[in-house]
Amino acid sequence: MNPTPLPPKALADVRLALLAHYDRARRDLPWRGESDPYRILVSEVMLQQTRVETVLGRYGPWLERFPDLESLAAADEDDVLKAWEGLGYYRRARNLRRAARLVRERPDGSMPSNYADLRELPGLGEYTAGAVASIAFGQAVPAVDGNVRRVLSRLFDEPDPKTAWLRSRAAAMVDPDRPGDWNQALMELGATVCVPRSPRCEECPLSAWCAARANGTQHERPGPIRRRAPRRVTIALGVLYMGRRVLLAKRPSGGLLGGMWAFPEREVGGPEEALEAARSLAEEAGLSAISAPAALPTCEHKFTHLHVRYVPCAVEVAGTAVGEDASVSQMAAWVDAWQPTRLALPVAQQRVLESFRERTPAEIA
Ligand code: ADE
Repeated sequence: MNPTPLPPKALADVRLALLAHYDRARRDLPWRGESDPYRILVSEVMLQQTRVETVLGRYGPWLERFPDLESLAAADEDDVLKAWEGLGYYRRARNLRRAARLVRERPDGSMPSNYADLRELPGLGEYTAGAVASIAFGQAVPAVDGNVRRVLSRLFDEPDPKTAWLRSRAAAMVDPDRPGDWNQALMELGATVCVPRSPRCEECPLSAWCAARANGTQHERPGPIRRRAPRRVTIALGVLYMGRRVLLAKRPSGGLLGGMWAFPEREVGGPEEALEAARSLAEEAGLSAISAPAALPTCEHKFTHLHVRYVPCAVEVAGTAVGEDASVSQMAAWVDAWQPTRLALPVAQQRVLESFRERTPAEIA
């Protein structure tokens, strides 16, 4: 490993080389060349945990639906989550809306234009605040995402780059004249050249300065991130239906999939407990089962710290339809399983709904 930062001459050359490469080879992405801070914020939040290819199909439609901070601040949370449907990590969408509402309350109603104030907004961590401050406002602050982490780990041949180390190395390197382009150039290099498994060192504008390349360790840098093994759980879902309609419940705002709509659920010890669990979910909703619960195909979903096996069970029910009762309508709703719904459903729940439709007798549908 190389413990010393780049000397001034090398740093100046590295900046020139990387920015020239960026100017020549950067991908033509819709948020490139954008100057509106809100649009830049949306792109950075979307890109945080979602692949560029996916974001490409969602960025434009989002901006049509919510063209500015005002429209997002004024929107209903359910509508915002619906527009984010399928992108995952839904807290990002809820935070984006909360951030828009806070910005609206500022004296001039516009986005903060520096890193420290951006960082105060919900959902803007070091990375996002740094990206927006540098790209939208030209502030010379770093923005370290996973790609930049890999580039710096290799450039300095640091096997285990810690947050503080990355922050200080990245901060020392930001080009003061083109901070936004500099940060994006580093990200772009990590996404297209300094890629995880087979880095294209022959094409790399920084190879002459790369300590890992000199030491032949580029394939080992950075070392693996040790994460705790995710918890594995089995969750029974009650697909409670009355005629064409199924019952959905709004998930509490603080937790996993907060604010999204989903089938009533219960964690169980194993799939064999799911049929019984579905029956009690019906009872707890004040409904009575009028058919034996029927198992639908299971499906799996991986959250960051949790691997879930969903075991859905369809139960035909009778009783007072919650959702027609004003006192519970905020939390539960009956929706026609064959009509598009305006409620936002996580992808796994959409799959369950799909399998419910497939197995249900044509006379109901
Ligand atoms: N990944 C996230 N934001 C990016 C950006 N602005 N440019 C390149 N890659 C990115």
